[in-house]
Amino acid sequence: MKTESASQSAFPGRKRSLIEDARRDRESTSASPGPSLCGDSFVFEEKSGKVTLSVLFALKNDKNAGFFKAGKVFETFEAKLLHVESRPSRKCKNSSPDDLEFFLKCEVHSSDIDIFINSLKRVADDVRLVQDEKVPWFPRKISDLDKCNHLITKYDPDLDQDHPGYSDPEYRKRRAAIAELAFNYKHGDPLPYVEYTPEEVVTWREVYRTLTSIYPSHACRQFLDGLQQLERECGYGEENVPQLRDVSAFLKERTGFQLRPVAGLLSARDFLASLAFRVFQCTQYIRHSSAPMHSPEPDCCHELLGHIPMLTDNGFAQFSQEIGLASLGASDEDIEKLSTLYWFTVEFGLCKQNGAVKAYGAGLLSSYGELMYALSNEPEYKPFNPAETAVQPYQDQTFQPVYFVSQSFEDAKIKMSQYSSTIQKPFSIRYDPYTCTMEVLDNTCKIQNVLGQMREELKILNSALEKLGQS
Ligand SMILES: [Fe+2]
Repeated sequence: MKTESASQSAFPGRKRSLIEDARRDRESTSASPGPSLCGDSFVFEEKSGKVTLSVLFALKNDKNAGFFKAGKVFETFEAKLLHVESRPSRKCKNSSPDDLEFFLKCEVHSSDIDIFINSLKRVADDVRLVQDEKVPWFPRKISDLDKCNHLITKYDPDLDQDHPGYSDPEYRKRRAAIAELAFNYKHGDPLPYVEYTPEEVVTWREVYRTLTSIYPSHACRQFLDGLQQLERECGYGEENVPQLRDVSAFLKERTGFQLRPVAGLLSARDFLASLAFRVFQCTQYIRHSSAPMHSPEPDCCHELLGHIPMLTDNGFAQFSQEIGLASLGASDEDIEKLSTLYWFTVEFGLCKQNGAVKAYGAGLLSSYGELMYALSNEPEYKPFNPAETAVQPYQDQTFQPVYFVSQSFEDAKIKMSQYSSTIQKPFSIRYDPYTCTMEVLDNTCKIQNVLGQMREELKILNSALEKLGQS
């Protein structure tokens, strides 16, 4: 049986990681127009390439000429008016009682902002863009995940000469056909069914057999329990590559997580955002048969064996969603930190159980070599501490020199939640599981509404305690 060597020198590298992607995003961030804070409501950048602006300007009331000229500017730039207010001017130099000041909210193409404002300055006085806070676009409802499709394609077999499938045109064709299913997927569609070939099932069998031989001694209890359930109820086994459709339905019943097919590695921001909705983005193609114990990119072996068993655990599901929620609207710098946290927990995390260190990270549980290495006495262990973990340099060309060990998922979740509250955002957000939407809590009415719902839930808990005779 061919297995991946535990030797670091044999490690071919992961090519690109979520963290590197987040760093590139941060470094390449252009002066893209940000959303603004206007009064007590936030204005968010739209992913359609348009942005909502709040503009203040003053006009001299010389027979309304300025007003019509300003209107022409809005028409020229196809600025869609969302809100208009006027009041007697207070700031315009030499203003007369008839002069007016305008406040407008409008939607313009993000690439037009500078020229739009400059054009307005030619016909109006004291033009100001109210733009205090930048909040990058994030999905507000689960179907918005259809827009989270920013793929990193640099290391797929069509472009990466080191990819095991690079010189195999049949493999590349097959991978592209499976990726196409994901490209065409929209929220609400049935998850695509893939008829795996006998050769693909052989690859899966080798991976499954090799990894399951070391799980009992190396994987954490939650992983082993999850895998057992999946084998019993979801078609997991050596002879069958599980279908995302079946796995997703199974997870939804257990922890509310569901799967979405993805054509490759997503950008860090898009990937983390989906976790906020308890949606896990899964590839469906399988690694090349020449290298069953290694894939430079995520494939269905990594997803189905590394990630899915852990997502059957409620504590872990909550921990994953916590990272996702923290990412919504976060700055590029914070996305990089959250990606690093994700890397050292969900991908390469260790935890203590009954005095022993066990693996719960998917990057470990889908790699024989790194799993053996991580639980040997070679690497350094550090206690999981989000503030420290978030800035730990990571390694993607060889095994990690450092792994972080959580006391328990409960402990990790509490620490993660405390860390999330330190991320600077000009708003608070809450996930509504009934409508699968994100609610920005930006006024007291919304907050009171949520409080009302919580009071009702507390009544149910109180009543339950009374029935148990414990109140
Ligand atoms: Fe992964």
